[in-house]
Amino acid sequence: MTIDTEALGADLLQQVNDAAELSALEDIRIAALGKKGAITAEMKKLGGLDPEARKAAGQALNQIKDAVAKAIEARKSDLETAALDAKLAGERIDVSLPIRPEKSGRLHPISQTFDEIVAIFGEMGFAVAEGPDIEDDFHNFSALNIPANHPARQMQDTFYLKEPDETGENAVVLRTHTSPVQVRTMEAGNLPIRIIAPGRTYRSDSDITHTPMFHQVEGLVIDKKTHFGHLKGCLQEFCSAYFEVDDVPLQFRPSYFPFTEPSAEVDIGCTRKGGELTIGHGDDWLEILGCGMVHPKVLKMSGIDPDEYQGFAFGMGIERIAMLKYGIPDLRTFFEADVRWLKHYGFVPLEAASLVRGLTP
Ligand code: PHE
Repeated sequence: MTIDTEALGADLLQQVNDAAELSALEDIRIAALGKKGAITAEMKKLGGLDPEARKAAGQALNQIKDAVAKAIEARKSDLETAALDAKLAGERIDVSLPIRPEKSGRLHPISQTFDEIVAIFGEMGFAVAEGPDIEDDFHNFSALNIPANHPARQMQDTFYLKEPDETGENAVVLRTHTSPVQVRTMEAGNLPIRIIAPGRTYRSDSDITHTPMFHQVEGLVIDKKTHFGHLKGCLQEFCSAYFEVDDVPLQFRPSYFPFTEPSAEVDIGCTRKGGELTIGHGDDWLEILGCGMVHPKVLKMSGIDPDEYQGFAFGMGIERIAMLKYGIPDLRTFFEADVRWLKHYGFVPLEAASLVRGLTP
């Protein structure tokens, strides 16, 4: 051998243990074990030795090679652990520190309104149900008595993820209303039903009073002796509690929805004296929601016997009732993510809406 294998091994091991960084360790690995590395170079010389010497030197080199490779692995793991420890120490936060008041966040008015709605209906014994934003044709339309080519499909400016097939059905859509959650809840079949379903809805519509994504809350009650009087009482109770006006005047106007019969649109009393809109007893009306008795065909399609069960449903735009209660003039500002707007119209978090403690902090 032209070179002292023992010294080579000791030198490489020393270098490995001295490596202070992962990148330096990688350089050492290449310089020792790489194609042009020191150990590889010695291996190549073995061919020129006589058989006895070749065997001894080969064994010695293999031992060094294994020892160096092992040492590199061990050093690598040490360096990685040290790097992680340093990173964790650097990122440690003291969770016991009080927050700085000017940094505290605000609840978006949509979140606040959701919480108020859930608090009020919760008190009336409603559970919260959910459904997917991406819906199939059946749940968004057909099961709600809106068959293919029904004009109501055009009315809703649907976003199609998959266009309807030659039958005019089987599309995949962004749900245009929260009413498909009615269908999903009825299909699940746990009767009687008393749910609200707040969530996002989508329509291809964008102007001063429409955004392509908005929020609705659906309500559904199914029981054996449910009638229109229950619907009126329930909405009256909700509107008085939500707008914090005793006996707030409501007006039920006959209307049409394919999935309810009879159907109504509900207006709430207001005044516009002095150019400012105030909800309550007054000389004007403002439309706030759609509702009706669940159509027997809709019950039947979801597997409920309309001779045994009836029910009512309603659907309300969340932005709209938030704007009315909190005097927010422009719908589009809800989705501009402007921190100054949120600071002005937002709510202090951690003050959960409650009918007992007060809806608004
Ligand atoms: N889904 C209807 C809409 O988006 C509202 C509605 C819900 C009407 C439930 C009646 C019953 O316009």
